[in-house]
Amino acid sequence: MLDFTKPLYVLAPLAGYTDLPFRSLVKQFGVDLTVSEMISANALVHNSQKTLHMLKKSPLEIPYAVQIAGSNPDVIRDATLILNDFDYIDIIDLNCGCPAPKIVNNLSGSSLLTDLNAMGKAIETIKKYSNKPYTSAKIRLGFNEKNHLEIAKVCEQSGSDYIAVHGRTRSGRFKAPVDYDAIAEIKASVSIPVIANGDIDSVEKSNWVLEHTKCDGIMIGRAAVGKPWIFSQIKGLEDIDEKELIKKAVIEHFNQMITHYEDYGAIMFRKHLHTYSKGGYMGASAFRDKINREDDPKAMLELIKSFF
Ligand SMILES: Cc1cc2nc3c(=O)[nH]c(=O)nc-3n(C[C@H](O)[C@H](O)[C@H](O)COP(=O)(O)O)c2cc1C
Repeated sequence: MLDFTKPLYVLAPLAGYTDLPFRSLVKQFGVDLTVSEMISANALVHNSQKTLHMLKKSPLEIPYAVQIAGSNPDVIRDATLILNDFDYIDIIDLNCGCPAPKIVNNLSGSSLLTDLNAMGKAIETIKKYSNKPYTSAKIRLGFNEKNHLEIAKVCEQSGSDYIAVHGRTRSGRFKAPVDYDAIAEIKASVSIPVIANGDIDSVEKSNWVLEHTKCDGIMIGRAAVGKPWIFSQIKGLEDIDEKELIKKAVIEHFNQMITHYEDYGAIMFRKHLHTYSKGGYMGASAFRDKINREDDPKAMLELIKSFF
């Protein structure tokens, strides 16, 4: 189902952004693999309705990965067993990179990089109980210091079928320069496929990273927000006239938000409109001002139609 004989293009999980409406839109622009927002294994086990809603996928998303965060083996096992009931999920991914204090303080996300024993155990647990074709992990290069080769080896030995590597340490957060050499070292040291991630924002950069790291694919997060067609450009699928396309894409994204979140989707869409309206539109700041005060979906749609 995952074809690693050619580069795999992946949409990174971005909590608060890569929900069903956004993933569905990006999928139309040719991305090969989409991943849910991070889902707390604990919340899943406690049957949170909001969490179950987050698991939903668009029919276009084949294959589809769900990312969980956690470390307690019993909780990870129970979360995996719950995910087993959703036959449309193809991959369970473990978050080993989130730097947020509330995640780190629970030995989840990037703090797993400080306890590779616990990280390995969590991956092994998913692998053991999952009925999905793939188990994966998304890692950083280390917590404070880089120990990326050791981390990657533990992922491989614990049963990860592939890994995605954000080329920074936890202390590098989202700003330190991405170390593509370190990603290349990982690729050379393991025999499972490796997906490179971090600051890939153009066709040229994507090609360069693939060439430089020899990785099996690339993963893009922030550069796809406001520009979901970046994947069509990278894959050379079509020559896109951004201005012509944006109106159609924004309206479709908005409609999907209302379908998925009902009226509250209008408020949630504001942040996307801020990004879409960047790029030389006349009156963009007045538009942002208006949509910040608008919460009625019909009125917001009219504002969108007349602005773009
Ligand atoms: C707002 C935001 C939310 C994120 N949420 C997640 C998440 O839920 N799970 C995860 O593994 N990484 C998450 N990340 C990290 C991204 O997946 C990615 O590794 C990072 O942004 C670097 O890639 P980029 O430069 O292409 O954005 C998040 C990053 C941002 C900026």
